[in-house]
Amino acid sequence: MTLVLRLLFIGDVYGKPGRRVVADHLPSIRDRYDFVIANGENAAGGFGLNRESATALFRAGVDCITLGNHAFGNKEVYGLLDDPRVLRPLNYPLGTPGAGWWTFDVRGERLTVVNALGRTFMDPVDDPFRALSDLLERDDLGSVFLDFHAEATSEKAAMGYHLATRVAAVVGTHTHVATADTRLLRGVTAFQTDAGMTGPLESVIGAAIEGPVARFLTRLPHRYTVAEGAAQLNAVEIDVSDNRATRVERYSFTEGGAS
Ligand SMILES: [Fe+2]
Ligand SMILES: [Fe+2]
Repeated sequence: MTLVLRLLFIGDVYGKPGRRVVADHLPSIRDRYDFVIANGENAAGGFGLNRESATALFRAGVDCITLGNHAFGNKEVYGLLDDPRVLRPLNYPLGTPGAGWWTFDVRGERLTVVNALGRTFMDPVDDPFRALSDLLERDDLGSVFLDFHAEATSEKAAMGYHLATRVAAVVGTHTHVATADTRLLRGVTAFQTDAGMTGPLESVIGAAIEGPVARFLTRLPHRYTVAEGAAQLNAVEIDVSDNRATRVERYSFTEGGAS
């Protein structure tokens, strides 16, 4: 009989406050889960992933780090992409370093984690829909989890239904705001348009408020820094068995109990 695996997927970990809330909180809940995935594209100061931030996430109990449009925002990522636990988006052009998916052995079950980038309102990478269809030609993936890093809610919903019944989960990242549409698509595929951010709450999607507000007021470039203060961890819990999700629920924790 196939085991039920309980997964936790943590939305974009943003800078030091994001790393802190993962390091402080994840160990206390880690034994509830068989496998923990975190999007780390903003873990190093808001842009990309460096060795120190990857190590901090792994030490806290993360098993796999996915990335996004900031995948190559920190040059140290080149030295990390040889580790199959660090995934960059699948649909970068041929020849891009690193891998976009990996199959893990979790308690004797196969779990494939995939990272892909949307294109609407983003850089024109390769077609993520085709890339997923091509990958799913394989028959050795086991249960499949996709972190679909995209801006447009429509593109994420379309990807959800493109893959519904063919994968166990499609969860979006990138917008840094958790959505309230958590559900099973066609009764099989766990879905949420965006997992939300794991980072400072009093911020403009992670950045200190002044920079983004000034940019909207003046349209001039302004320096963005990571906001300080209480951080919130936003995640999605998914029970998976035999490439089907049987349960999906949001999980959120705020430092100091604030909300
Ligand atoms: Fe992000
Ligand atoms: Fe992003």
